[in-house]
Amino acid sequence: MKAIISNQPGSFPFQGFFLALGLGVSLITARADAPSRPADYYTETFRPQFHFTPAKNWMNDPNGLVYYAGEYHLFYQYNPFGNTWGHMSWGHAVSPDMVHWQHLPLALPEADGVMIFSGSAVVDWNNTSGFGRNGQPPMIAIYAGYRAADNLQFQNIAYSNDKGRTWTKYAGNPVINLNSHDFRDPKVQWHEATHRWIMTVSLAADHKVQFYGSPNLKEWTLLSEFGPAGATSGVWECPDLFELPVQGTREKRWVLAVNMNPGSVAGGSGGQYFIGQFDGTRFAADLDETLQPTPAVVPEGTVIADFEGSDYGDWKTTGEAFGPGPAHGVLGDQNPVAGYLGHGLVNSYYHGDGTQGTLTSPVVSLIHPYVNFLIGGGSQKETCMNLLVDGKVVRTASGQDAEQLDWHSWDVHEFAGQNAVFQIVDHATGGWGHINVDQIMEADSPAHSASEAALWFDYGKDYYAAVSWSDVPKSDGRRLWLGWMSNWQYGGDVPTSPWRSAMSIPREVGLRRTSEGIRLVQKPAREMESLRDRHFAFPGGDLAKANVWLADQRIQGQQLELLVELAPQTTGVAGVKVLKGAKEATVIGVDHSSGRVFVDRSQSGNVGFNLQFPGLQDAPLPRVTGRIQLHIFVDACSVEVFVNNGERVITDLVYPSADSKGVEFFGPEETTKIRSAEVWTLKSAWH
Ligand code: FRU
Repeated sequence: MKAIISNQPGSFPFQGFFLALGLGVSLITARADAPSRPADYYTETFRPQFHFTPAKNWMNDPNGLVYYAGEYHLFYQYNPFGNTWGHMSWGHAVSPDMVHWQHLPLALPEADGVMIFSGSAVVDWNNTSGFGRNGQPPMIAIYAGYRAADNLQFQNIAYSNDKGRTWTKYAGNPVINLNSHDFRDPKVQWHEATHRWIMTVSLAADHKVQFYGSPNLKEWTLLSEFGPAGATSGVWECPDLFELPVQGTREKRWVLAVNMNPGSVAGGSGGQYFIGQFDGTRFAADLDETLQPTPAVVPEGTVIADFEGSDYGDWKTTGEAFGPGPAHGVLGDQNPVAGYLGHGLVNSYYHGDGTQGTLTSPVVSLIHPYVNFLIGGGSQKETCMNLLVDGKVVRTASGQDAEQLDWHSWDVHEFAGQNAVFQIVDHATGGWGHINVDQIMEADSPAHSASEAALWFDYGKDYYAAVSWSDVPKSDGRRLWLGWMSNWQYGGDVPTSPWRSAMSIPREVGLRRTSEGIRLVQKPAREMESLRDRHFAFPGGDLAKANVWLADQRIQGQQLELLVELAPQTTGVAGVKVLKGAKEATVIGVDHSSGRVFVDRSQSGNVGFNLQFPGLQDAPLPRVTGRIQLHIFVDACSVEVFVNNGERVITDLVYPSADSKGVEFFGPEETTKIRSAEVWTLKSAWH
């Protein structure tokens, strides 16, 4: 058994507990992998071939990313006992190149009722902690402990003297305890100038990051706080702090990356960042770079309902929550409500959160491809607006636990010409048990919320909890990171088995001065090139020629890398479809008229497992004149799209049929020009 759970005998009562119950077999599941690889290894439906996945069970955030003695370590949030979140522990894998991974036994299991939440790892080169042995520096893990019994989160450390294979938890844990329910995800680094350790850690519900300093990783002193700032509609999680040169200059800046859930730019979980200075004590954002507020974008359209009347007109209520008619701002003791248009809005805080009910529209015939509306209030499933077609809920949206209404958009083009009904629902009675809605419109393009004012490092729905590798040698010099390729909205529902979730590909981050200011850019780590297999190159031409080339070369597959350059146009939507089958495709392209780049997964395959899954994610096209370059990685159940040398990234999960392998360029026949295209088939990293 010791070989399976390789921690010190006796140090984890949890292990003893399961042995005592005679459940030794379930310990086998605590290994993220089997030692030998059978022929059908990693061949299940939707199994990524070059992304990291655990062999089985649930995974979320990457943790403890550290490089040591020729190995990139990846620890990760892992439930050893099942395929949904729970019993969080640290799984472990190592790789020489961040591409080919070897699974190792569980590193830090939940024990004594304390789950091992997210955190980081460092090499303590100077043995400041005193945990080193035989002149070798120890590896130290710094993680949030989460005790469900009293719902407290606090910072703990553990050390390893054998390259992360076995771990001992520090007897003096916790090293920081604020008796807080939302204090997690410590990221530690050695700060050379002040000669001490710095911990960047999140006060999640306060939208704050705290910085602590320590001489030895055991005693910590609060140095400063940052926030609230930028986007604050969700909890702040998994922060990271690192310094980078601004490409092509002698300048340097610090980047504070803050993951946030929900309320990210694409909905649900996502990541924002701040650019500024860190002096060893305090992070100060460069205001000019960080927040140039861009207002919401609201295209003109046909109003379906603006709730300006004294009653609901043809809309029908059930229950009490919606009162006799539209509200005019706050109801009762409600906090200030803002962001609605005109005087009236739907506000189900009638007689407080305790009331419930529904408000249903008459039948509306959908004509335009988008429905845009303002929504605020509770974020739960029970406080929402639904769109029903043929009596079935086909779209849903909730607030962000804020009274403020913000724009939301549904792509409904597949229902054009059909009859639909809007239903606003309040089936909740507790905190945030109400919903605010206003200005429901049909339009030809989507509305964009003001949350875009923050800086986002990914505009897709599936890049979360991104953190960077520590201790990458100076001679290498890169800042490398990856993220959890999923979203808390539906991560527990995705149709994969016996595992759930993948990490993104490893990416190199940089800073570039763009026309918008200094911005974070990302590119695939160069190690990804080792997977390239067959290569195809298209010298350029119009749409028809490009598609003849794809067909002649028989280019297809579910593991592909594409590098496509499109000629800019003033109108039209053009790009490339991947994972294309008879009735489905993942559509990646550029809307030239609105200047946006997008991934549309609304008809990408299985999208029905969660109502918040189908749809389109897009980003403003970086303003680089004369150039639209899409660098795309396709792997079984995901696409990662790097736009114009990584000035925008869109990461999205998709669940296509096994035979949806096609690639096809699309766009207006007359104007679409493919300036160049390269395609590689990619090898599996697991076989
Ligand atoms: C982020 C997160 C972290 C927490 C971990 C728990 O996805 O919520 O804040 O430490 O997951 O699994």
